[in-house]
Order: sequence, then C-alpha cells, then structure tokens
Amino acid sequence: MAIVYGGDYNPEQWPRETWVEDMRLMREAGVNRVSVGIFSWAKFEPEEGRFDFAWFDEVLDLLHASGVEACLATPTASPPPWFAATYPEAVMVDARGRQLTHGSRQGFDPSSDVYLAKALAVTEQVGRRYHDHPAVKLWHIHNEYGCHNARSYSRAATAKFRLWLRERYGDLEGLNAAWGTAFWSQAYSSWDQVYAPLPTPTIPNPGQVLDFKRFSSWQLLQLYKAEAELLRSIDPSLPMTTNFMTGSHPDIDLWEFAGAVDVVSTDHYLEGPTGHINLGFAADFARSLGGGKPWILMEHSTSAVNWQGRNRAKAPRELLRNSFSHLARGADSVMFFQWRASKQGAEKWHSGMVPHAGTDSKIWREVCELGARLGELTEIEGSTVEADAAILWDYQNLWAQEHEAKPTTDLDLQKVFNDYYAALWRAGITADVAHPEGDLTGYRLVVVPALYLMSRKAAENLKDFVRGGGTVLVTAYSGIADETDTVYLGGYPGAIADLVGVRTEEFYPLIDSTVGLVSGGTGAVWSEAAEARDADVRDTYLDGTPAWTVNRFGEGAAHYLTTFVDDATLDRIVSAAAADAGVEPAAHAPAGVEVVRRSHDDGRSWLFCINHLDHDAQVKTATTTVDVPAGEVVVHAEHP
Ligand code: GLA
Repeated sequence: MAIVYGGDYNPEQWPRETWVEDMRLMREAGVNRVSVGIFSWAKFEPEEGRFDFAWFDEVLDLLHASGVEACLATPTASPPPWFAATYPEAVMVDARGRQLTHGSRQGFDPSSDVYLAKALAVTEQVGRRYHDHPAVKLWHIHNEYGCHNARSYSRAATAKFRLWLRERYGDLEGLNAAWGTAFWSQAYSSWDQVYAPLPTPTIPNPGQVLDFKRFSSWQLLQLYKAEAELLRSIDPSLPMTTNFMTGSHPDIDLWEFAGAVDVVSTDHYLEGPTGHINLGFAADFARSLGGGKPWILMEHSTSAVNWQGRNRAKAPRELLRNSFSHLARGADSVMFFQWRASKQGAEKWHSGMVPHAGTDSKIWREVCELGARLGELTEIEGSTVEADAAILWDYQNLWAQEHEAKPTTDLDLQKVFNDYYAALWRAGITADVAHPEGDLTGYRLVVVPALYLMSRKAAENLKDFVRGGGTVLVTAYSGIADETDTVYLGGYPGAIADLVGVRTEEFYPLIDSTVGLVSGGTGAVWSEAAEARDADVRDTYLDGTPAWTVNRFGEGAAHYLTTFVDDATLDRIVSAAAADAGVEPAAHAPAGVEVVRRSHDDGRSWLFCINHLDHDAQVKTATTTVDVPAGEVVVHAEHP
C-alpha cells in the first residue's frame, strides 16, 4: 500500500476550471488523498434546512476519476452566518463573559443544544449521501476541536457544568470537599450557586477552575462522540478520526479523546527557531496516543503560516525535512493545509501545495519531489517505532499549573517539558509520550518534568516502575498535589518523597537570580532547601544544597533535580540517566542530525537520518556509516 499523500482541498474557493487543473496537478505531484468538506457547511446548507450537494457530487466524482481518495469531513467546525443570526446565544461566551458573534469560524458554543442539533442534521445529510461513494475512505469529524472555542462561559455551559459536577462528586458535600470551599467562606449550599468561573474580584478557587477545564474538554468530546455515533449508525464500515493538535493548543485532554478515534491524526505547524524539535514531540505524541500504531499527519505547511505575527517562509528542503521527521516517527500519511493557497479570506497568507506563484516555484518542485519519494517508500507503511524511553505529559497537570497563585509564575511547565524533550531529541533518544497513570512496562527510562499534579495512582505507577528496575528522571515541582489540587503534607515532594529519597521543607524560587552548581552548571527559576535522606548527591548548589540526587529504589533508580539546569548540564544528566537505564540512541549522530528507526516485525528496518545542519554529516550505526548532506534526508534501509 502507498503512503498517503495530499492535503486539505477546498474547491469551493475556486471556479470549476480550476478543479480540472487541480486533478491534473494532483496526479503530477503524486497526491493520492485529500481532505474535503471541512469548511463547506454554508455551501451544503445555504439556508437552514435547505441542502445542496450537487456541486460536491461533482468534486467527489472528479477526485475518484483521478485516482484520489477522499477523507470526508463533517463541516461542523464552521457554522454558516444563518446559524448565529437565528440563534445568537448558541455562539460562545468568552472568559470575560462577552457573547461572541459570527465573523470567523468555530462560531458556536460547545454546550449549546441548538448547535448540536444543527451539527447532527448536516452530518446526517453528508453521511447518508456519501458513505458509499467510492472515493470516500475515512471520516474526518469536525476540524480541530477546541482550536478557538475550547472554553465557553455561557449559561448553557454553566448548566452542563453543574450536571457534570453532580456526576463527578455525587453531592455538594463531595464538591465542597474537593474544592476546599472551607477556605474564604466558599461552601456551596445549592447547585444553583455554582457557575462557570467568570471574572471575580481576586484569585479564583483552583478546584473550580481546574474542574471547569476538565468539563470543557469533556464537553467537546461529547460533540465528537455524537457525530461519530450518528455516522457509525449510517455505515459502521468507514473508519473515523478527528485532527488533533498534539504539539499545541493544550486545552483538550487528548488522552481522553484518543480512545474515541479509530486512527489518530494530528496537525503540526512550526513555531520558533526550534520548531523542528517540537515537531518531534508532536509526532511522538501522536504515535503514543494511538498506542504505537501508524498515524496520520493530517496537516502541516509547505512554507509560511499566516497566524504568527512574523511568518517565516521555510528554507529550501525544510518542507522535505519536516515531512520525513513525521514519517520517521510513525506517520503513514503526509498531508498539508492546504492544496491550493487561497487568494482571499483570513488565510490568504498561508502557504499551500500550489502556491500563489504557481507551479514554477520552489514549493511546487519540492511538493512533487516529496510525492515521488513517498511513492518509492511504500514498504515502510505499517512499520512501527520502538522507544525505550518515555516522557510524561498530562494536560490536567498543566491546567492546575496555569492557576495564577503558585510559588513562582516564572515556572512554565511547557518550557520545562520542551527543555527535557529537547535534551532527549539532542541525545538521539526516541521517546514515547506517556500518561502518568499509563502502562510504563517496556520502558527503561521515564522522564518526569514538573508533574506537580500527581494522583496517588500515578505515584504508585512510578514507584512500581522503578521497583521493577526502571530509571526515572524527576524534576522539581513534581508530586506536590493530588488530583483535586490538594497538597500532600509532610514535606515535598509528598507523593514521591520515598521514591526520590529527598525531603524539602521550603521552596526558594529564584527571583532575578540563578544558582551556581559545583559541577560548573547553572540552575534557574527554582531552588529548594532539599535534604537528601536516602539519596546519593551527584551535584550541589555552591552552598552545598543538593541539586541532583540519585536514589536506589527496589531494582531501579530515581534521579531528582531541585532546580532547572542549563542545556549543557541537562544534556550531561540525561546522558547519565540514559546510561544508568541502558538506553541507547537510534544511531550516533552529531547534535542537529535527527535519527529515528522504523521497523517491521520481520526485521526490515529503516534508519531515517535528517540533517538539520548547514553542513554535511555522518551517522554511524553498529555496522555502517551513512553520509547525510547538509539539509538533506537519507532513509537508510537496514534489512537482514
Ligand atoms: C489549522 C486548521 C486549518 C488552518 C491551519 C492554518 O490546522 O485546521 O484549517 O487554519 O490551522 O495553519
């Protein structure tokens, strides 16, 4: 089977003559699948209850005749203007309590029953009309749930939040206990007193805010499930997905969403100078959400995006490097937003596979080269990526840490996480992304970046992993509070003090200063008065306070860091922990050359070598040396 190649196709933006040219160009580029219908609601249902599909019949027939498959979307991410005009209260309310209006996309309140009814009505029409069209291979439900409207603070949301809380806590006693409402006279005596966390004079209740984030994520999942159930009732044979955003937009708990899709798909856009490293994380996370199975890269960009303020065009070959990084990390589909760059509308400055410049362009030549190269790699389809290491990521931990009242607002969990992921990336260590309560058997090394919110179950999970011989690398500000955001007492890190063999009485956030380490490194943002009770001390602050400790626990070891160290020190510590754990890189490569291996059970494997440097490099495996020219990608077959 072929690697899937293509992108979002929005023919409604173009005249019919262009569709015919599109078919020719898709064949030229090797495109074999496009996503269609994503933003077609206003064309499908120009007036409430009046549907028009004739134009789209033609689009699907043209695609089929051209040998291009369709990933058919339900158009529910962008209700037409009639929706907001008729049902103004069905549009979201923002965190400041403002009722938003139509004018862009995702103009709906996820808790609105009217929205759900209208979304299901158009979904049913699309489902019944096209489920057995020969071009249609996959349902693409909605588009990027929660991209712009993850949390709505409407009256409908408050009503559903109350029901959700009753289900979670049973009664008001349970709610009051979980939210710690004894503090500041906040005890609720009736469910009618509970609201979505709208603006309030000062620091809001952390339990209320955290639960509202959980509820909002759950609410979006209910929308997905409603569409999915409807489509399944029409035709149980077609698989379904919805495009996640694994490297950004952390407002939906993808661990909960992942169980509801048949195949994981994700979108990724580069941001900042190390965007290609975040790409690695987004791809590893997509693979991990699907339990290691091949996944779909539903969107990325051929060059610049339009939403970053200053939008960098990709350098020559960067499109290929990015695509191959996703492929290396387990994607079996490489797709872009979008096929043809728009000439009007909010995204007219977003690149496409066919750019404004047309086919006499760098982008088009690279699009065609990529299509040709993917066409030669059919054998890798279905192969998997094995990881000995994992890094823990939990949205609920992030949501708790987003609260404004904490030891220091300088501690940015996403930065800490990215720093630790980047250290693994630089070391060439392929890592899965794991949930703190997930199955850790099979890993040798587990990295735990600032897992402040740690349930008892997660703490036991980590302890069992280390007892059984695993190695963990845990940072400061982990194991501090349980899932209700209640602090574990008796010294920090309360949930895992025995695991790390360290006890801390007080935190000393670093205010406009850093802390020097005896090893020569530097710590920033955080320090703590840690006492190494059972652990060995590997490095200290200049005043002798432990900075890096290692505790033997059962058959394994727990490394603990009491500050956030500079990159060079972090590289040293990650290498030491990996060596302790017996974790090896995929191959030996200079920093900046990405190496990842995909294999089949029968022993056929491929080493992907992606050179992000501006000079030629060599990658060494146990048996061979692979030359990788500057900026290029080499896929080295390693068959027995
Ligand atoms: C997201 C959306 C697309 C488009 C791109 C732009 O991924 O799904 O419709 O807006 O962003 O980068």
